[in-house]
Amino acid sequence: MDKKKSRREFLELGLKVGIALPITSSMLYSCISKAEGKNTSQKETSKKLKILILGGTSFLGPHQIAYALGRGHSVSTFTRGKTAPTIYKDLFKEVEQLVGDREDNLTALENRKWDVVIDNSGRRAEWTKKTATLLKDNCDLYLYTSSTGVFYPYVNSEFKETSKVFDAIPEDATEDQKRDFQYGVMKANSENEAIKQFGIDRTIVVRPTYMLGPADRTDRFMHWPLRLKKGGEILIPGKEEDTVQYIDVRDVAEWMIRLLEDRSAGTYNAVGPKATENILDFVTEAKKTFDAESSFVRIDNYDFLKDNNVFYMIPWILPTDNYAGSAKINNSMALANGLSFRPLKETIADVYNWWHSDAVSQERRDKFASNPNSMLLREAAIIKKWKAL
Ligand SMILES: NC(=O)c1ccc[n+]([C@@H]2O[C@H](COP(=O)([O-])OP(=O)(O)OC[C@H]3O[C@@H](n4cnc5c(N)ncnc54)[C@H](OP(=O)(O)O)[C@@H]3O)[C@@H](O)[C@H]2O)c1
Repeated sequence: MDKKKSRREFLELGLKVGIALPITSSMLYSCISKAEGKNTSQKETSKKLKILILGGTSFLGPHQIAYALGRGHSVSTFTRGKTAPTIYKDLFKEVEQLVGDREDNLTALENRKWDVVIDNSGRRAEWTKKTATLLKDNCDLYLYTSSTGVFYPYVNSEFKETSKVFDAIPEDATEDQKRDFQYGVMKANSENEAIKQFGIDRTIVVRPTYMLGPADRTDRFMHWPLRLKKGGEILIPGKEEDTVQYIDVRDVAEWMIRLLEDRSAGTYNAVGPKATENILDFVTEAKKTFDAESSFVRIDNYDFLKDNNVFYMIPWILPTDNYAGSAKINNSMALANGLSFRPLKETIADVYNWWHSDAVSQERRDKFASNPNSMLLREAAIIKKWKAL
């Protein structure tokens, strides 16, 4: 496999996301609101919000909708009508589904009032500028779903909400570098557009790290649940000091709704776990989900990993060059403002069960299982090579 391509595929995966899962309303109550912490129970809140979600039918949106409806709020979505929800399908009967296009048709949003807007589908800063301008007099709060990608290149040892972000691609960047900067720069500019229109007191910016959970459209996290279920000799990449960061999509979705209920304007890094963790801690905890016997083979030589095209096994990312600090995002602001986390075992079990439900096509499962570039198929040969050194 081409190394540049491998890194590139990884970056592109970061731009694509979510669907799936035939969860019914009755199953809903067992799937949400289990995070640790306060005020996370499935209960109606005193003030019922009218929520508009720009997007809402993909990965994060359905989880936001399930939680919001459970708490007595009402929800409208705005999409092109192309991406059909495949999780919580029956709940969408209770959702007003508006159709338009963020590119050139916002008619369905004109002369309408909502309490709050959640902008999940922001793909261009211009889109956020247009919707925030249109909605600022008809909605109280704007929540922009950003990303920790705003901190790219991750060359610091810690990133706080106040850390510098790039809002323009450096002029001397090569074509490859420009592509790497694009997503974060777009997110940073979109954050600014939301704040410009709604003002700092009426804008919430949430910057999630890698989100895991049912309905992920990417397959980037599937290695661990499938591999740990199987057992045997398991490759653990990286050094003791390599931290990992990730978050269950439902912890982000539910926290966003609570931030809106509490009118908690501000910018927050939505990053887990609560305390510092390395990949061995992650795998050790995740392994408890299943009762398969397994042993670990740690490979901590970066050159060997690079030579064998092991640049990432999400949540582990080779922490070199512009990714040196990608798992060094500070989450203290979020913790102080109510972000809470499900147990990892619950995430792993739910992802495993979702993957084997009819929400995921057999074709997708087969494709993943037979992909010669996947770690599932390459792992044994890499371990053999490592042991022979
Ligand atoms: N996944 C992660 O790990 C991660 C991490 C950090 C941040 N994020 C951010 O999280 C957000 C939510 O992601 P997501 O996967 O739930 O949704 P998404 O993939 O960002 O957006 C898809 C939604 O937007 C709608 N949409 C797409 N193009 C549109 C257009 N031109 N006009 C109107 N609607 C349009 C889609 O419906 P139609 O196709 O029907 O239009 C769908 O409902 C994104 O902003 C992403 O950048 C994700």
